[in-house]
Amino acid sequence: MDIGSTESVEHAAAQVEDEVGHLDLLINNAVLSALGMDEDFLHADMDSILETFNVSALGTMRVMKVFYPLLKKGEGMSLIINISSEAGSITKCYRSNYLDYSMAKAAVNMGTMTFYNVTKEDPGINIFCVHPGWIRTDGREDNPAPLSSYDAAEILRLLFEKRRYDKQGHRFITYENEDYPF
Ligand SMILES: NC(=O)c1ccc[n+]([C@@H]2O[C@H](COP(=O)([O-])OP(=O)(O)OC[C@H]3O[C@@H](n4cnc5c(N)ncnc54)[C@H](OP(=O)(O)O)[C@@H]3O)[C@@H](O)[C@H]2O)c1
Repeated sequence: MDIGSTESVEHAAAQVEDEVGHLDLLINNAVLSALGMDEDFLHADMDSILETFNVSALGTMRVMKVFYPLLKKGEGMSLIINISSEAGSITKCYRSNYLDYSMAKAAVNMGTMTFYNVTKEDPGINIFCVHPGWIRTDGREDNPAPLSSYDAAEILRLLFEKRRYDKQGHRFITYENEDYPF
């Protein structure tokens, strides 16, 4: 599905409903960032940020909203994981560039908290936003990131199992199961 399009997300949800009936786990992983955003704030092309926001921030919210009925049909506690980034932390912000990406991740964090507030008394659903670590998702050997995609996937799978039923703890966590400041 194209998470930048509500119609596409709704179509995908209808297909999932036909094929499996419900969902136990939703991982929002997709991200988009604009070219040229390695330039600092004063040199960034502000008009190119809109599409990043539509996909990386609103796309995540769209998917949560549209797939929520399917998550509610799960038998136990269904889990939503929004893959965020340390770049979305306002408290720890150190960058002067990548404005589109950082703003979108901060928005994902806010959306996660807002959804949490709506569903916090519901024993059937839980949600976290997660900084997944620095990962060689491009598969390149010369990428200095310490984690391969495969290592990261297993670390995150174990993390999600560990935190699945925790509805009280901090909502923004890292791949090392540490709380991270919003
Ligand atoms: N890699 C890291 O070190 C790192 C660090 C912190 C956080 N993260 C987060 O981890 C997640 C994965 O990162 P990554 O490095 O794998 O990113 P990536 O290589 O840029 O991959 C992004 C994925 O999002 C998909 N996507 C883009 N636009 C989409 C749309 N409109 N609808 C549906 N899918 C769309 C892309 O699909 P197509 O290829 O088909 O376009 C691609 O599979 C992201 O949320 C990222 O912010 C990564």
